[in-house]
Amino acid sequence: MPQNWTAVALSRDVPPQVVIPTVVEGRELAVWRSQSGRIAAWEDRCPHRGMRLSHGFVRGEALSCIYHGWSYNEAGLCQRIPAHPDLVPPDAIRVPTLTAAESDGIIWVTAESTDRPPPKMPGFTPLRSLTVEVPASTITAVSASPIGEDGDLRLALAGIACLLLVQPLPGDRTALHALVAAGTSPTAQASVSRALEDLRHQAETERQAA
Ligand code: FES
Repeated sequence: MPQNWTAVALSRDVPPQVVIPTVVEGRELAVWRSQSGRIAAWEDRCPHRGMRLSHGFVRGEALSCIYHGWSYNEAGLCQRIPAHPDLVPPDAIRVPTLTAAESDGIIWVTAESTDRPPPKMPGFTPLRSLTVEVPASTITAVSASPIGEDGDLRLALAGIACLLLVQPLPGDRTALHALVAAGTSPTAQASVSRALEDLRHQAETERQAA
């Protein structure tokens, strides 16, 4: 079964009323959480004049553009144009939306239409995300671990079972969303986090030497 979900962030890194930029399958996205906790992934481009919506702000269940304040409801439909407060915006003014979902503390996005739920990662708990300035292929070479069908790379760091969810980014960069074995102590988690940074350094050094 082909992978159709991409991990884009830890749930706790996108709290209510926060919007972040990301990229999935080459598409620039704004991932945001409403005041009530609903997660969404939209094309990172305002239908008005193209400003990045990831620079915008969340009010309640809507995301507003930072430029002229056009506001979009949870379906991506424009619901308010501040310069024309009495105008009911036509349905044609709509932000393209993707499917976002959460599972085991991870935010997943798919650009496809799918009935398949996002992957579950039983036995693991989210640790942290970090970006590495190398393509995913260098990560697999350095770690000597293949990437599974869910974008998961399993390895031991600091002697502890870990799982890295791999998110390819433009410019030969890769985001890694790391999980550790459930029940790992805070001290051991700190060791894993340092080992993860060592892995990043090793991969980036390898890349420079190539
Ligand atoms: S560019 Fe977004 S409201 Fe004008």
